[in-house]
Amino acid sequence: MTERSVSASKVTTGENVPFWKRLFAPGGFEWAFRMRKGDAQAFFAPQDSTGTLLKERNEILDHPSGRYLATTTAGEVLTDQVWDLALELGQVKESPDGKRDLLSLSRQWEADLVMMDISTKSVAAGSVCFPSSWDLAHVVGKTLDEVHEVVPKLNPQIGEMINRFVQSLSPGKSFCRENWSFTRTADLDYHPAVGRRRLDESLTLDEVFLRIEHQIFTGLPDGVLMGVRIETFPLKDLATDPDVWRMAYEKLQTMPEDVANYKSMDAAIPKILEVMEAYQPIAKNSRTFVAK
Ligand code: HEM
Repeated sequence: MTERSVSASKVTTGENVPFWKRLFAPGGFEWAFRMRKGDAQAFFAPQDSTGTLLKERNEILDHPSGRYLATTTAGEVLTDQVWDLALELGQVKESPDGKRDLLSLSRQWEADLVMMDISTKSVAAGSVCFPSSWDLAHVVGKTLDEVHEVVPKLNPQIGEMINRFVQSLSPGKSFCRENWSFTRTADLDYHPAVGRRRLDESLTLDEVFLRIEHQIFTGLPDGVLMGVRIETFPLKDLATDPDVWRMAYEKLQTMPEDVANYKSMDAAIPKILEVMEAYQPIAKNSRTFVAK
C-alpha cells in the first residue's frame, strides 16, 4: 500500500488550511471532549474524485479474514437506518438486488462506520477499513464503557460526558471531534493484525506522521452512527507553524506513560522530542495559540 494522506480538512473546515493548525489546544496532554456541531452532508460526501479511496476500501472489505466488518442483530436494524440516512443525503444508490446490508453500503461510501445501539449502549455493527490500532472483533457487542476501558484514564476523566452525549443525541443531529496519534508510516490501515512497524528509539523525523481521526456522531432513531475519516501529515509539516510545533512538543512531553504505551509510542517519545528540537528548536516565548 502506498503512503499518502487523504484530505478531510476541506470537508470539516470548509477552508484550505491544513487541519493540524487547529488540532491542539494550549497546555499539557489531556483527554478532551471538544465536541462541536457537525455537518453529516459534508462529512460523508465523496472527497476522492479519482475513486482510489473507494477502490482501496473495497479491496480491504474483500479481505478473506473478514476482520474489517462485523454486525449483530441490533446492528442490522441500525444499518437499515444508516441506509436511510445515506439515501436521504443523496450519496449512495440502492443496490440493484435491493440488499441493504452494511457491506453494500460500505462499498459505496468513503467513511468508516461504527454503530452504537442506544438500548444496550453497545457497539452493534461496524465497517472499519482504517482502524487506528484497534480490532473491530474485540469491540462489537461491548458497551462504550467497556470499549473505552482500554484507554488509560479516559472513563474516569470524560466517560460520564461521553455517555450523556450519546444518550441525548437526537436523530439527524450531528457533532464532530478528532482523536490524534503519531505513527511510523502514513498508511491508513492500522489494524493490529497488519503488524505495522512501531515508533521506537530508532526512528528518524521523516518517519513520524501525525494521524488525525476525524469523527462525526450522527443520531439515528435507535442509536448513534460514528463516521470516521483518517488524515495523515508528516510531523515535519508542523514546524512551519512554531506555535503548533511547540504545542505538539508539549503534548508529547506531558503524555502520561500509560497513555504513551496505549498509543504504542512509549519507546519513541524521548527520540521524537530530540529530533523535533534538532530540526527546529521549540519556540519558548511565541504568542499564545488561539484555536480558530
Ligand atoms: C458511538 C460512540 C463511540 C464509539 C463506537 C467509540 C469507539 C471507540 C473505539 C473502538 C476506540 C478504540 C479503543 C481501543 O483502542 O481498543 C475508542 C477510543 C477512544 N474514544 Fe471512543 N467511541 C465513541 C465515542 C466517543 C466519544 C463521544 C468520545 C469523546 C471524547 C470518544 C473518545 C475516545 C478517545 C479519546 C479514544 C482514545 C483514542 C486515542 O487513541 O487517542 N469516543 N473509541
